[in-house]
Amino acid sequence: MAMLLHLLLLVILCLASNRVTSELVLEEGYTVSTILDGNKLRVNPSSVLPRPGTHDLIILDSSGNAFYTVSSPFSQDCEVRQLAGNGSRGFSDGDSVSAMFSHPRSFAVDLKGNIYVADRSNHAIRKISKSGVTTIAGGYSKGPGKMDGPAQSASFSEDFELIFISERCSLLISDRGNRLVREMILKHEDCAHSQLKLGSTWVWALGLGIACLLSLAMWLAAHRFLARTGRLQPSLFQQDMEALPNHSGDSSSDNLLRHQKRSC
Ligand SMILES: *[C@@H]1O[C@H](CO)[C@@H](O)[C@H](O)[C@H]1NC(C)=O
Repeated sequence: MAMLLHLLLLVILCLASNRVTSELVLEEGYTVSTILDGNKLRVNPSSVLPRPGTHDLIILDSSGNAFYTVSSPFSQDCEVRQLAGNGSRGFSDGDSVSAMFSHPRSFAVDLKGNIYVADRSNHAIRKISKSGVTTIAGGYSKGPGKMDGPAQSASFSEDFELIFISERCSLLISDRGNRLVREMILKHEDCAHSQLKLGSTWVWALGLGIACLLSLAMWLAAHRFLARTGRLQPSLFQQDMEALPNHSGDSSSDNLLRHQKRSC
């Protein structure tokens, strides 16, 4: 009887261990390394994000009520620069390094590099821009709450986070304390595309221009070939004669340009 019990136990154990290993899929090929040590830098990195358009990182030290930036290349003795918050708990705007936050929980960065702060214990959303720190939501709220409406009168719980959504030009707020997903629409200028995006638009336009010019050249060549071989309709030929360069086929760039203007 005892042996049977043992056997049963063994079978159960076997099944259990099998289940555990079969649920774990170890995919190899990844590496972990430390790029910054908060103990040495004397910051507590509660949250980190890249700074758009640069290789810098933005670090939030929540318990230290301050934001820092670090420039690449990252090393153990690289320098952190104070970005915003003087380190004391408080609620004051203005000049970035003398502004005060109160246990900021998380932050988001828009395409321009503006930083939006879920300033938890102030129940407010703050904005860090080139011109300093401002309060953009919850400025009138005297405590936690879940009021929607005009942003300064809105209120938030003690536990909320935010994320920037460029497609919606808004901040999505996960208001955990209230169990709500909320949204704050940003101003148009906050979502304007950065210089980087503008650059790529120019490249795109240039590409389109070149493609247009190439197709025009091909069209001209084909046209001339057809004209020479006499396969072009007489009426069509006549019509295009005006736009075409001279008969002999020596197209001056002037004519080409005028032509291009018409067809592009
Ligand atoms: C931050 O600024 C406030 C107000 O000016 C001041 O009382 C406080 O001592 C400052 N904190 C630090 C760490 O400098």
